[in-house]
Amino acid sequence: MQTLAKMLLVSLAVCFTPLALAQQPIVIKFSHVVAANTPKGKAVEYFKKLAEERTKGAVRVEVYHNSVLYKDKEEMEALQMGAVQMLAPTPGKFGPLGAREFELLDLPFLFDNLEEEHKVTQGPIGRQLLGKLEARGILGLAFWDNGFKEMTANKPLRKPEDLKGLKMRIQSSKVIDAQMRAVGALPQVMAFSEIYQGLQTGVVDGQENPTSNIYASKFHEVQKYLTMTDHGYHGYAVITNKKFWNDLPPDIRSTLEDAIKDATAFFNNSAKKDNDDALEEIRKSGKTQIITLTPAERLAWKRAMVKVHQEWGKKLGEDILHGIYRETGFDPNKL
Ligand code: LMR
Repeated sequence: MQTLAKMLLVSLAVCFTPLALAQQPIVIKFSHVVAANTPKGKAVEYFKKLAEERTKGAVRVEVYHNSVLYKDKEEMEALQMGAVQMLAPTPGKFGPLGAREFELLDLPFLFDNLEEEHKVTQGPIGRQLLGKLEARGILGLAFWDNGFKEMTANKPLRKPEDLKGLKMRIQSSKVIDAQMRAVGALPQVMAFSEIYQGLQTGVVDGQENPTSNIYASKFHEVQKYLTMTDHGYHGYAVITNKKFWNDLPPDIRSTLEDAIKDATAFFNNSAKKDNDDALEEIRKSGKTQIITLTPAERLAWKRAMVKVHQEWGKKLGEDILHGIYRETGFDPNKL
């Protein structure tokens, strides 16, 4: 018995020697709300790989996919409390933080293609938006551009007026709320993790997301129609707890910053293919009818929704919105 007690004491003493303590890895909990087999899930895993390899194990990244640790809204609170260290929410989720400028990126038909998205989010306007988080104890590290949201419902949506009276699930974004009301839909804020059941039980009639999220979370199994509207930007601001990040050893911090840069390139270079592949899988499943719009039909959606730009540009930051227009050449008055 004495030998066992001695062994226990020795092993405990070893655990707390400076060397052993010094070898304790820095743990980064990275939580997000969508499935692992999505552009965001893959990029978070790639960041984990780079971070652990390049710090030679000094950092351990614990990845929590699919809202298993925190769901929408909870995750932002957890980050501010330091219960998690990294997130990658969509711009529509920064309202509760008071960073409502991010919702400018939710304005419908703001971008016409991925290149325009990158021009804004990866340039000075993206950096300006990320900089606004610092006063709230959060550091914006990057934007991951996931292409465009599409509309799904259990009735065909070919014209904007087809949305009239439909209960449409939205993120907690006042701009997306206004977008849906502009075409007569009834917006319902709901956490991403609750969408499948909400669609299955009829609590909501439809939702908007990129095809990679639709497929990975099996929304196509409970939605008869998918309309390729490409009506809204879908992307993520990769964020961290400011105190955590600034307290990191400088060499670790710069290694992680490089890993973020490479994970951002990985995401932005692979998301389009992931969304295209997801659309093909949805088509092959035969579970939902895919509706593509003619240019004239898409223009009708644009004209019906773009009216929210003026009101919400004024409320959220006309200077930023006009900066986006300058970068993309978009003029809502010339539709
Ligand atoms: C949503 O809530 O629909 C999206 O923000 C989910 C995501 O993170 O892509």
